[in-house]
Amino acid sequence: MMRGERSLSERPVVTVLVPLEDDLLDQIRVECDVRQLDYTTPRDELRASLGDVDGVLVSPRIPADKAFFDAATSLRVLSSHSVGYDPFDIPEATAHGVVVCNTPGVLTAAVANVTMALIFNLTLRLFDNERFVRNGGWARREQAPPLGHDVQGKTLGVVGFGRIGQEVTRRMQALGMKTLWYDVFDTPHPDAPESSYCPLDDLLAESDFVSLHTNLDASSCHLIGEAELAKMKPTAYLINTARGGLVDQKALTFALQNDVIAGAGLDVLEREPPEEDDPVYTLQNVICFPHIGTATEETRRMMRELAVENLLAVLRGDRPPACVNPEVLDT
Ligand code: DGY
Repeated sequence: MMRGERSLSERPVVTVLVPLEDDLLDQIRVECDVRQLDYTTPRDELRASLGDVDGVLVSPRIPADKAFFDAATSLRVLSSHSVGYDPFDIPEATAHGVVVCNTPGVLTAAVANVTMALIFNLTLRLFDNERFVRNGGWARREQAPPLGHDVQGKTLGVVGFGRIGQEVTRRMQALGMKTLWYDVFDTPHPDAPESSYCPLDDLLAESDFVSLHTNLDASSCHLIGEAELAKMKPTAYLINTARGGLVDQKALTFALQNDVIAGAGLDVLEREPPEEDDPVYTLQNVICFPHIGTATEETRRMMRELAVENLLAVLRGDRPPACVNPEVLDT
């Protein structure tokens, strides 16, 4: 029999490693036998349980490497409720004939909203002002925090011009920002908003806000390091709602401590959660969120629905709505 091939009477086995609503679990149960495991299950225990499993539903908190795919000898689909797939070794998945599915599209607006929230909080000093009120500074008629800045007329440099980068561009253009974009490709998608392509170095030098929206892989790891930060304006802000590994965090900390740039808005960090002594807790020119780019009830629900749809499609032998290694489907 081929990988994952079962006789007609056999139902696929699916391991669910993420919390899932009963109605979605029931959808899977109509066609598959379901095993539920906690994502904290020790790695060796998890691998030992995968031998006869046809599909897994995971999140990026559950990395899948060669050892994972070696152990999952019947696996046909790894479906993650995330758009990012950096924790999964895609070449290994492909070599093992496993389709890896993700959830693009349904979370674009949510991540764009959090990106805007970081830009506004930094530029309007919203948190400083909120603390001023809460700590009694206003009541005591103390001097308020320094004034903020307008976003209109400023330049936003978007690094990574996929769905999310384009949506951030649209929204910030509507608010009067000029926009630039950079990506490894220089021909945008036909539906992309009008914006000026700019080589990365020029984008860094010209932007008042640099916002990262690219995938994390070997080529984009530490895309922004000491040299790139040095090219930014001392008045500029770095925004990262994509992946922490895109930025060399040590270099960023140095840049923030030494006024190389004005500040940073981070929804993601190289290490999540950060160690207790991470300067991110004390730096005054940083706003840090705990990776909440998709953290709304509605968006998370749509992500889980799409993850289930992807999983079941592959197990039925159909094309899933979204996958990152479609070549496996074509073999
Ligand atoms: C994603 O979908 O990749 C988000 O970052 C959640 O992990």
